[in-house]
Amino acid sequence: MSVSKNSKADSRPNSSKIISKRKTSWSFTFFVTALVPIIAGTIFYRLDSFDPAPLPSDVLTRHVVAVPSRNDRMLRGSELVGEGSLLGPEDVAYDPSSGVIYTGCADGWIYRVTVNDSASDMAVEKWINTGGRPLGIAVGGNGEVVVADSEKGLLKVTAEGTVEPLTDEANGQKFKLTDGVDVAHNGIVYFTDASYKYSVNEFLWDILEGKPHGRLLSYDPATKRTELLIPNLYFANGVAVSPDQNHVIFCETPLRRCRKYHLQGKEKGRVDDFVDNLPGFPDNIRYDGEGHYWIGLSMEYTDSWHFALSYPFIRKCVAIMMKYLGPPPMEKNGGVLAVDLAGKPAAHYYDPELSLVTSGIRIGDHLYGGSFFYPYIIRLNLNQHPAT
Ligand SMILES: *[C@@H]1O[C@H](CO)[C@@H](O)[C@H](O)[C@H]1NC(C)=O
Repeated sequence: MSVSKNSKADSRPNSSKIISKRKTSWSFTFFVTALVPIIAGTIFYRLDSFDPAPLPSDVLTRHVVAVPSRNDRMLRGSELVGEGSLLGPEDVAYDPSSGVIYTGCADGWIYRVTVNDSASDMAVEKWINTGGRPLGIAVGGNGEVVVADSEKGLLKVTAEGTVEPLTDEANGQKFKLTDGVDVAHNGIVYFTDASYKYSVNEFLWDILEGKPHGRLLSYDPATKRTELLIPNLYFANGVAVSPDQNHVIFCETPLRRCRKYHLQGKEKGRVDDFVDNLPGFPDNIRYDGEGHYWIGLSMEYTDSWHFALSYPFIRKCVAIMMKYLGPPPMEKNGGVLAVDLAGKPAAHYYDPELSLVTSGIRIGDHLYGGSFFYPYIIRLNLNQHPAT
């Protein structure tokens, strides 16, 4: 086990450092608009098994839900936790009994990060390596950590650090992109497979194809049964069980919404709206124990994205360009949105320099933001830098 600490000098984000990582000669807008010369060729061009489809027309709108308060420069005043050690800390789970944040990184390691008033005193410690790409992460009632590993499926890590595979298929169909997870008080695990077709490195292909390859699932450790709760979801992503244990909230990234699946009573099995028309693409969702869910919004929903999502043909053009030029740079204004228990937006923290922010959780006075891309967790003091 190696333990490293941040140095204070490095703990302030430096926008030029972030920009240089993202520097590229392409822009997503270019991908979407500079298409005319290739359109003729595209009509007859075939990409193996990639066949974009229209998204549901009732969901496709340029409308964005109103948020009463925001901090649109969240990097100002932010500190960087675990800089250089935490490579793509996609989700963050907090265990209040030990004061530890668990996060899974691109190198397969699950890290334990000990929360401290001072970011520079937060110890970052390698815990176990899944051998895959851990994404969603949640702490269960017995101190066990449950991991949605995009390559390995659903895993349990015991408090002693033993990794046990739980499940990697449902109804005969293997998971290809196990993504979000949460554990109910009764031990049942709710999780998503974002896509049975595309792997984590191909996530943009799934979004561009615009087909519902995702599923909401549950796993009962008592019976070892995996149950398919909802098939045909569009890139099913973050999952959070409500504090009253009555429902589970799940996010569908390209549809910019999170929905509510009822777990109890007469409404059991029913799906209701929770929050629609998010200002960006939702990823993980976490409950803070004090009345708010925090939704990671990987990037802003721009006119370019709206144009691309509206026309399968445009998405096909983007995919062809992506095949030859590599992935387009992501749009910016990523951040974290807080919503109340009814799904009503409360506060939005974001920054023009951020993209692929994938999770957020409030612990005490601070917001901790995970990301699929950056080599650190972003920490913001919400008292000093509130949304207004
Ligand atoms: C923060 O870390 C320092 C140094 O490891 C330790 O002495 C202190 O007790 C910690 N504070 C909290 C609130 O955990």
